[in-house]
Amino acid sequence: MYALVTGASRGIGRAIALQLAQRGHDLLLVARSEDQLKALAQEIGQKHQRQAQVLALDLAAPGAAEKTAAWATQHTNQLAVLVNNAGYGLWGRFEDLGLAEQQNMLQLNMALPVALTHALLPALHQAPQAYILNVASTAAYQAVPSLSLYAASKAFLLSFSRGLRYELKARNVSVSCLCPGATTTDFADRAGMGAELQATANKVSMTAEAVAAIAVAGLLAGEAEIIPGVLNKVSAGLTSVVPKGIVEKIAAGIYEKYL
Ligand SMILES: NC(=O)c1ccc[n+]([C@@H]2O[C@H](COP(=O)([O-])OP(=O)(O)OC[C@H]3O[C@@H](n4cnc5c(N)ncnc54)[C@H](OP(=O)(O)O)[C@@H]3O)[C@@H](O)[C@H]2O)c1
Repeated sequence: MYALVTGASRGIGRAIALQLAQRGHDLLLVARSEDQLKALAQEIGQKHQRQAQVLALDLAAPGAAEKTAAWATQHTNQLAVLVNNAGYGLWGRFEDLGLAEQQNMLQLNMALPVALTHALLPALHQAPQAYILNVASTAAYQAVPSLSLYAASKAFLLSFSRGLRYELKARNVSVSCLCPGATTTDFADRAGMGAELQATANKVSMTAEAVAAIAVAGLLAGEAEIIPGVLNKVSAGLTSVVPKGIVEKIAAGIYEKYL
């Protein structure tokens, strides 16, 4: 069976693709960086003797979901896993960041997984058992000043995942949402986070490989929400009992003070 992973060229997506290959899936890999995708496809062939096809595409561009779905269905009629992982954050005050770049982020983090899931659900329903993994964040559980829109986009993805999971509960498609905390990838650089904030995050960061191993185990076990790491589980849990104003003050103390 095939698994399609968006944002597979590096970071968490790359590690998830390798985990799925190790568990016997062939891979459909999508991101913009063709060379990195091809190198990963080769690694998957050599290490795990699985097939991997690559599609180099800007997933925030108009029509990207439709192109990806058409490409996927051209390559296989055995799609069993969809991983909506491609995404990024933008660090800064909402009014200081450009509107166009923030809208691009919303397109990739929210509209793309929605459109891709809609386009690929008919194919997933053909599999005996299929899985969707939406990659959100612990930021989905709370507002984060200086990452306001990013956190809102991940809250959207978590809510969408839970609703869709319920809608599909009597069907063959299990929907999970992965909510990682700080993870050592290019995420912080892409978000424009400064060195001091990155140094703070590094103290509690997990590796992409550790996150991916927990993610794929949770996905195949049919878990609704997968929060890797004890610290992340505790901090996400606290957001439901600590008053929102206090949670936001703590988050601002971490993220906003370095602006
Ligand atoms: N790292 C963290 O601390 C952390 C924490 C919580 C959640 N997350 C989430 O985890 C997911 C993966 O992030 P990461 O940490 O692995 O970051 P990353 O190392 O920057 O990887 C991001 C991936 O998304 C792809 N991507 C970005 N823009 C794209 C576009 N326009 N079109 C196609 N692909 C695009 C990138 O590939 P190309 O550049 O080659 O296109 C890359 O493969 C994201 O949804 C992120 O929000 C990360």
